Amino acid sequence: MLENSQALRDPVRVKRSLFAVGICILGGLAAPTHAQSITPVTTLSPQAQVGQQLFFDTNLSASKQMSCATCHDPNNHYAQPTTNTNPVQFGGPSLTAPGFRAVPTLTYKQYTPPYSDSATNPDGVSTNSPGGGFTWDGRADTQAQQVAIPLLSSFEMANTSQAAVVAVVQNASYAALFQAAYGTDVFSNTQTAFTDVGLALQAYQQEDPSFNAFTSKYDYWSTVALSNGKPVNLTAAETRGYTVFNYTGNCFACHYNGPITGGGGALFTDFTYENPGTPRNSKIPANATKILLPTYYDLGLCTAVNPDPINAYLIPHVLPGSASLCGSFKTPTLRNTATRNVFFHNGVFTSLAQVIDFYNTRDTNPGKWYPTVNGVVQKYNDLPTAMKIYVDTTDVPFGLSPGATPFMTAQNEADLLCFLETLTDGYVAGVTPQDPNCVN
Ligand code: HEC
Ligand code: HEC
Repeated sequence: MLENSQALRDPVRVKRSLFAVGICILGGLAAPTHAQSITPVTTLSPQAQVGQQLFFDTNLSASKQMSCATCHDPNNHYAQPTTNTNPVQFGGPSLTAPGFRAVPTLTYKQYTPPYSDSATNPDGVSTNSPGGGFTWDGRADTQAQQVAIPLLSSFEMANTSQAAVVAVVQNASYAALFQAAYGTDVFSNTQTAFTDVGLALQAYQQEDPSFNAFTSKYDYWSTVALSNGKPVNLTAAETRGYTVFNYTGNCFACHYNGPITGGGGALFTDFTYENPGTPRNSKIPANATKILLPTYYDLGLCTAVNPDPINAYLIPHVLPGSASLCGSFKTPTLRNTATRNVFFHNGVFTSLAQVIDFYNTRDTNPGKWYPTVNGVVQKYNDLPTAMKIYVDTTDVPFGLSPGATPFMTAQNEADLLCFLETLTDGYVAGVTPQDPNCVN
């Protein structure tokens, strides 16, 4: 996160610097250079074409009913379908095994660096800290490596081995395409073929423009040339919301949307791990099953294990030498967050308004967010007692005393919501409905 972030905020500067990087042309549509690592292709490479087939193939699960797209719905920015309001999903051979965490969007993930205990912050000024990696705890270094997790997890796609996965591909309608992409003898080595499955899914997520569209109202507004020269303006409420985002609410400190050192930007995350004291979600079966798992806590970063793509085991994550990262989770992008049903790693929040209000009143009115037992508010109730000291109490909007006046007014909260709604891809001027609450 940015330290002393209020002093560093300058939305106008950020906006101009994004505009200054110019544009490149993608099939008649202009795309921002913050997508510079995307090759502007209209057809996918053979590898990505295979990846597309794999992404939608339900045969790649033990149940034969679940594909990547089941949880990562292309119609909802690769988050869970809008009709699905579960905090966690059910997988396994008969789709009855509950997961442990909420499904993140897969949009804008390709810019994520590998996990490091001492990652350089993309803002160029914050001190190094744990950052990067895939999943909520960063335990996969690349999108290719990540693929082993859902394919082999007993509560997701639940294949019993790499060989089982490769056998499905070998018998698939796209087996010849797979060979065309990775060599005619690719099926002769199970490990190589399994690694290639990961590489193909990675290629698809990186090449298909729908994963990295940069077609939100925010993009058209901040990089005017994207909208074919017709400026898109934010409404009064959205503009005020952007100021709240940058200053009053201090969201920008972690959901960093400025230019990134080395190129690119506007991802609405700095890839760091933070501990906002997320309330426990009793709707997650693992949290409710007190008999089987009496002390189950999802501690995030400090308990992460890495998938080993070669041996398909989970191997220990290289951890920072401190328990202080227990309860820290990766700062997610806020792009396409407005269409989500559940928020945060445990899906405890079910509306964006609630998320904003949590940030604003966690400390001034904790009883609103945590249960009260015998008259005592159980603050930070999703962490063991000894670990509650690691919750972030210094970054604005946190850190106020109970009963104090929160940083944001009700109007600020409403305006901030309006701004976050401008981060949804697929905006078409004059066609995309304007939230009537976000005009004036
Ligand atoms: C049963 C639902 C489910 C299925 C099926 C599934 N995922 Fe996921 N996906 C999740 C959840 C939940 C997470 C977060 C996991 C965690 O933090 O431990 C996730 C995380 C990810 C991430 C990391 C995103 C980030 O923010 O770092 C990627 C990439 C991803 N999935 C891709 C895939 C691909 C590719 C497939 C198919 C091979 C797939 N997923 C299948 C539920 C699913
Ligand atoms: C100190 C860093 C930090 C600050 C400041 C911060 N966030 Fe976050 N934000 C996070 C982290 C970390 C998570 C994930 C926490 C978890 O999963 O338990 C998160 C999650 C979210 C999510 C859920 C996204 C999803 O996909 O589930 C939203 C929405 C969000 N933040 C909005 C905001 C807004 C609005 C502000 C300003 C009022 C803000 N954040 C300030 C670090 C921060």
